[in-house]
Amino acid sequence: RGMDEGWSSDVVVIGGGAGGLTAALVAAERGATVAIVVKSPETVTAPDSPPTATAYAQGGIAAVDPSDPDDSFGAHVHDTVIAGAGCTDPVAAASIIGDGPAAIARLVGWGMRFDGVDSDGIGAGTPHRTREGGHRVARILHAGGDATGARMQEVLERRVADHVASGRIRIRHGAPVRQLATAAGRVVGAWIEPVDVTDRGGEPELLAAPVTILATGGSGQLYSATTNPLGSTGDGLALAMSVGARIADLQFIQFHPTMLFTPGARGRCPLISEAVRGEGGILRDIHGRPVMAGVHPSGDLAPRDVVARAVTEAMARTGADHVLLDTALVDDFAQRFPMIAAAVTGRGLDMRLIPVVPGAHYQCGGVVTDTRARTSVGGLLAVGEVARTGLHGANRLASNSLLEAVVMGIRAGEAVPVGSGAPGGDVGGDLGGGLGEVDPPRSTPVPIADRDWLQDLMSTNAGIVRDGAGLAAAARALDGLTPRIPCSPRELEDAALTAVARAVIAAATADTVSRGAHMRSDAPQSDADAVGSACPDVAVI
Ligand code: SIN
Repeated sequence: RGMDEGWSSDVVVIGGGAGGLTAALVAAERGATVAIVVKSPETVTAPDSPPTATAYAQGGIAAVDPSDPDDSFGAHVHDTVIAGAGCTDPVAAASIIGDGPAAIARLVGWGMRFDGVDSDGIGAGTPHRTREGGHRVARILHAGGDATGARMQEVLERRVADHVASGRIRIRHGAPVRQLATAAGRVVGAWIEPVDVTDRGGEPELLAAPVTILATGGSGQLYSATTNPLGSTGDGLALAMSVGARIADLQFIQFHPTMLFTPGARGRCPLISEAVRGEGGILRDIHGRPVMAGVHPSGDLAPRDVVARAVTEAMARTGADHVLLDTALVDDFAQRFPMIAAAVTGRGLDMRLIPVVPGAHYQCGGVVTDTRARTSVGGLLAVGEVARTGLHGANRLASNSLLEAVVMGIRAGEAVPVGSGAPGGDVGGDLGGGLGEVDPPRSTPVPIADRDWLQDLMSTNAGIVRDGAGLAAAARALDGLTPRIPCSPRELEDAALTAVARAVIAAATADTVSRGAHMRSDAPQSDADAVGSACPDVAVI
């Protein structure tokens, strides 16, 4: 395939959550042609489509109100750096946090309404802001109570649908990406699986573009208990690794302290937002003793890694398989947190005393990008959870993820050169004037673990607390897998999960200091004051 066949669009966006849809919208508004590739079979604009991680986000989106005398960009950066346990890049943090108000304005312009603002107007009222762990002030905007992400997903999808109608955006659904397409060392689009294996003789289809944006989310399905959707299988990270992109910080898998305890559950469990503690909720062990008493000066609103470990210790101390979230002091619980109330009461549980456990929640590391979303590989950008901008360090601050997804989605959308084949020096290297000869898709055997087996292996050996022996055992088990060629969408996901598991284990093995979301029982805790000096260099894999 040569240049004569040309680009299919100005940009291929892989993924349909906040980061991807924001990038797609901004690119389309600038006049670019956009192809969005989503692996779920339903269209992303269908109301009943399987949710993205965005759609599950409860707490909200952290953004400084510049008119608030009690808050400032510097304060938000400081809270982010402290939560990041010395591994946050303060320059990246200042850059992303500083664009918070502009990102909120963009969302509002697309139709987003935050709680506290009159439904019919921008500026007709001040949005209510809540607090979550690690934030010194209430700076988190929310919508629909605890339905912030779902509202945002709806708004973005509605807006995308307008561009689909006008032909500027095309969505390919049910189209897992088999490989990134490459030419002369650059990424030039994606090879996607045929919708039906009988299509095209089972050969993948090329979507070619001068810029490809990875927006595939995280990898929570590495673990048997997670708050993530079923589709969070590390696809984008695996794709990026396969073209040699730099990745970093994968040892920092954040566990949320309060996932609804569901005995025997595997796959996904509902989140109980940290905002519940922000509004007065108290964690107690099964005997009623406050879990966070004497653990951290911020008590129940300590950074997330601290609370998750304290919960784990309380469970070990009491021999129980959960702790309890006491909501007696939360005003109008069911009204303020309607989604959570429905999930809890729907299981026949008492919303005044909710059984919770930690669950795998967020991949703080990922594909290394600069503050313009550029990866180390020409033509390839990454936004949202798949990317590692340096904002999250060793432990993401609550509600900074939607902020990062929207801010970086805007920047990625702005980086797309408009007009097929336009020179793309701005997106990582010179395009050399066109598509060139595209490398043919490879059929390379790779290790593919059984998903339940992998989740148990990772939960046992690479969970909230790990050690060298367990990590080595897990590495050996994965090394024992016989490589084969993935031949179904499910196997593509399992191959991605296996590749990401190996990378997480390698990163956790190499990092012999405990900090943030990486706690090794056989390694010392880093000096919390050594901000910026204690982190490993960005790893190259
Ligand atoms: C929550 O609502 O607790 C989750 C927020 C987040 O993960 O940022």
